Parts: sequence; structure tokens; C-alpha cells
Amino acid sequence: MPNKDPFVVAIDGPSGSGKGSLAFNVARELGFHMLDSGAIYRLLALKALQLGVDLDDEAGLVDLLDVFDIRFEAGDELAVPYLDGVDVSSELRQEATGDAASRVARHAKVRQGLLGLQRSFFRPPGLVADGRDMGTVVFPRARFKFFLYASPEIRAQRRYKQLINMGLSANIAQLQADIAERDERDQGRSASPLKPAEDALVVETSMLDLAQVTELVLSHIRGK
Ligand code: DC
Repeated sequence: MPNKDPFVVAIDGPSGSGKGSLAFNVARELGFHMLDSGAIYRLLALKALQLGVDLDDEAGLVDLLDVFDIRFEAGDELAVPYLDGVDVSSELRQEATGDAASRVARHAKVRQGLLGLQRSFFRPPGLVADGRDMGTVVFPRARFKFFLYASPEIRAQRRYKQLINMGLSANIAQLQADIAERDERDQGRSASPLKPAEDALVVETSMLDLAQVTELVLSHIRGK
């Protein structure tokens, strides 16, 4: 495939579609590195909240990129995110941070300013990148592109279990409302809206568990 970068697997989809766990499994199986691009938007949102930068202030958010000091360290399972040298794992996964990230992510100049950082995660032997625009904008030449779907109800249930397992409190009706609002914002924005790349394989995951989705994706990759 001369036109394609053989070493990038792009996994996109709405929140709670199971991208993160799938990306983790696929990266482990292939021995690839990972980019959790949602975590980058979440870290920038946290930074803005810490410094009192308004989430509608595009120029103020872009200025933050000059002092945006983040890193990920290998953890037991998922990578541990650091902001300004501080482990912010628990703040990062909270719904309020996801919501703030979705607001930060509406701004075209912020997205533009984060492109280089996201692409710098690419390292041999390869990268599994998950997010909203991995296959459409950040890695348009990715060799494999997947787009995960699941109904908002199923996604709310999954998020609920995830939060409870992390020892955080959660309310399923509230989660469903938040997911609907976030979908609308992520799909409706003009800058890199959430949508499948033309050459993405769309996977409906509502009726599949993680092991089945992992198997489907890996067999697609290995079959090529
Ligand atoms: O995947 P996540 O829930 O951690 O992402 C948080 C928010 O960040 C999401 O609502 C939209 C935004 N985001 C984005 O716009 N583009 C990405 N590639 C990843 C996340």
C-alpha cells in the first residue's frame, strides 16, 4: 500500500465506545506504542482550569501550549499522565474533565497547535492512536483505521461501570445526558468533527464485548 503508513492503527469513536481499552489490547498484542489523544485534550483542559483560563478563550488556550508540560509513564495497565510533573490520573478520568476537554477541543487553533505533539508519539515499531480524528486529521495515512460505534445507552452503562470500578461516584441518567451533550458537541463542531474516515472500518460494538472487538480488529490487521 504505497500511499499508507504501515505502522499506524487509528481507532476513533465517541466517548464510551470502548476505544481506550481496545487500543490498549491492540497495542499490547502488536507490541506498538500508544497515543491516548483524549488524555492530551483532558490535560490541556485541566491546565486551563488550574490557571483560570476560560474554556471559550481560544487565544488564551493556545498560549497555554507554550507552557504545556506533560508526559506519560508506563503504569501497571494504562500509562500514568503527568501535568507539570504531577500525577493527575484521578482528576483526568473524571466526567467534569472530559466535559472541559470537549470544550477545549472545539477550537481549531488549539487542535492545530496539538498536531505536532500528537504526531510525535509515533515511534517504531508502530503506534496505536485513539481519539476522534486520528484517521481523518492526525494520521490520515494510517494503514488501519477503525471507527467504533455503540448506542448512547450502552456507552453510559460502560462508563458507569468504569467509574465505579475506579472508586468514583456515578449516576447513570446523568452520564447518559452528558454523553448525548458531548456527542453533539464533538460531532457538531466545525474543526475536525467526530466522523469516520472514508477508508475506516466501522465497527458496531453495542452487542460485542471487549474480547470480541479486539479479536475482530486484530484479525482484520493480521489478515491484510
Ligand atoms: O476520549 P476522551 O473522552 O478522553 O476525550 C475527551 C474529549 O476530548 C472528547 O469529548 C473530545 C476531545 N477529543 C477530541 O476532540 N479529539 C481527539 N482526538 C480526542 C479527544
